[in-house]
Amino acid sequence: MFSVVHIAHVAALGIISCACVVSGSGGASATDDAIRNKLARKECTRGKFKDYYLQGEGGDPSPDYKGRVYKLSQDYPIQVPPKEAYPWLKIPFKDGGPVDSRAYLQALLDYGTEGNIEAGFYVEDNKVRKWYGAPWMDWNTEVASDWPGTDGREYVHGLTHEFDTAGNTFGEKQSEFVDTWAQAYVNDRYAFALGQVYCDPDDPRPGALNPDPTGFNSMPDGSFVIKLLFSTVTEAELPTVKGALEWDADIYVNKSPRYRNAGPLSRFERRLGKVRLIQIDLQVRDERSPTGWLLGTYGYDGNAKGDTPWQRMVPLGLQWGNNPKVTFAESCSGPSGPCDYEKLTEQWINLQAVKDLATPPLNFNHLGFGGRLAGPVDNPKSSCMGCHQTAGFPMVPILAEFAPNSAILKLDAETHPETAQSVRMTYFGNVLGGSVFSDTQLYSADYSLQLAMGLQNFVSLRCAKDASPPRPSLCGELDDWAKLQKKAIDQVQVFGTPGDGGAPLKPQ
Ligand code: HEC
Repeated sequence: MFSVVHIAHVAALGIISCACVVSGSGGASATDDAIRNKLARKECTRGKFKDYYLQGEGGDPSPDYKGRVYKLSQDYPIQVPPKEAYPWLKIPFKDGGPVDSRAYLQALLDYGTEGNIEAGFYVEDNKVRKWYGAPWMDWNTEVASDWPGTDGREYVHGLTHEFDTAGNTFGEKQSEFVDTWAQAYVNDRYAFALGQVYCDPDDPRPGALNPDPTGFNSMPDGSFVIKLLFSTVTEAELPTVKGALEWDADIYVNKSPRYRNAGPLSRFERRLGKVRLIQIDLQVRDERSPTGWLLGTYGYDGNAKGDTPWQRMVPLGLQWGNNPKVTFAESCSGPSGPCDYEKLTEQWINLQAVKDLATPPLNFNHLGFGGRLAGPVDNPKSSCMGCHQTAGFPMVPILAEFAPNSAILKLDAETHPETAQSVRMTYFGNVLGGSVFSDTQLYSADYSLQLAMGLQNFVSLRCAKDASPPRPSLCGELDDWAKLQKKAIDQVQVFGTPGDGGAPLKPQ
């Protein structure tokens, strides 16, 4: 099991209430390109976002570094670029999902890597089409216990630090912690939506993902992301990582999060080291999906057929919904299975790969809650779509375990995933892309956790007490939000309690 704590950005007062089971087709939510273009803000400022952690403030490469330095591709288009004849559109859908999930996933991988492999994923050099990155990941705090900002993009490839994988997670020989470093690249239609939110880089408007206020706050159909996940794991620790794509990256010298997090900050020192491509995540907005999105993943297997590391990536699964009505006890017989995947009809799992990856010396478990799809370096209490459906501003807990009510209900997915389904299943709903997950959120980020996290990173610096003016409008909204959330909770406690002369008691 991955003993990994996930992100810190938990809304302190967040009470989750959501209408997660949404029926109907994602198609109903679509705003067409002409309307988006007509209403799009066009006078936008570009080129202002930092590229990497502490750029210009001590995070720069040393003078003897001769390699390439990462630059954020941030010239987001101000009109929606036309849709292409995307290869995944050739695959028909039946009952909400593709008739051939393996072929669909392959089409996503082909599109996401075309021209990018040749460019070494310095995507601004792609000769086939334009690619971009999300802003505000240079100053990032993804992992709950990490020090503020320290997970931010490194300078070689712009990778951010993600989950630390505890010993014995991948296989018998991996006895120490290994770190994950990752980066996501978005296509032009996705970039248009990001560019609308950040039209004024000093005053982001999360509600402008779709310029049409009468529509869902959604990205245009055909929006696409490819995310590469690298690990510091070596072949000695994980035999199947042999021949994996290897990159240099400016990563932590100390691999153990326990040691780093005890501080001081100098324990987060970074130095050039090697990371290996272990997982590829893909995410596409396809209006044929009941949620509006499909998320899929590949894992690296050095024993697979193929001449290049890219060809040795094995498809693990694809998800277009969470099957919100299937409780844990219905799909799995106990905390460590076995699970009946047939019950989960809104996903495809490569069962052969599940078996191969769990055969000694390997020890992978890349499935999430109740047998739903998650990745080898993801949290097994969750699922791809489970975490991503929560994306919005402010961020809310992405897992039942991270929510404040978890402590009261004593949730523990490792021992008793089958209990407290009325809370747990909230995290396995089918939120329609562009609508909010929880009524404690102001804006949907349409399944984009990088957008949600970037906004959180933005406010953490720009709304701080000592931040230099002008104060972004989001800070005021956040202040009001916090007061009203507190008031709503206070009111629950005094509701019906008589005050002076029997009048209703006012919350403080
Ligand atoms: C435990 C929660 C969790 C699970 C499970 C999860 N993700 Fe994510 N994912 C995140 C967070 C948080 C981010 C944003 C930060 C980042 O990029 O590291 C993210 C980022 C991404 C991105 C970059 C674009 C975006 O939306 O931010 C893609 C693509 C992605 N995930 C795909 C997947 C796929 C495919 C799966 C399942 C195989 C998956 N994720 C499982 C939490 C999760």
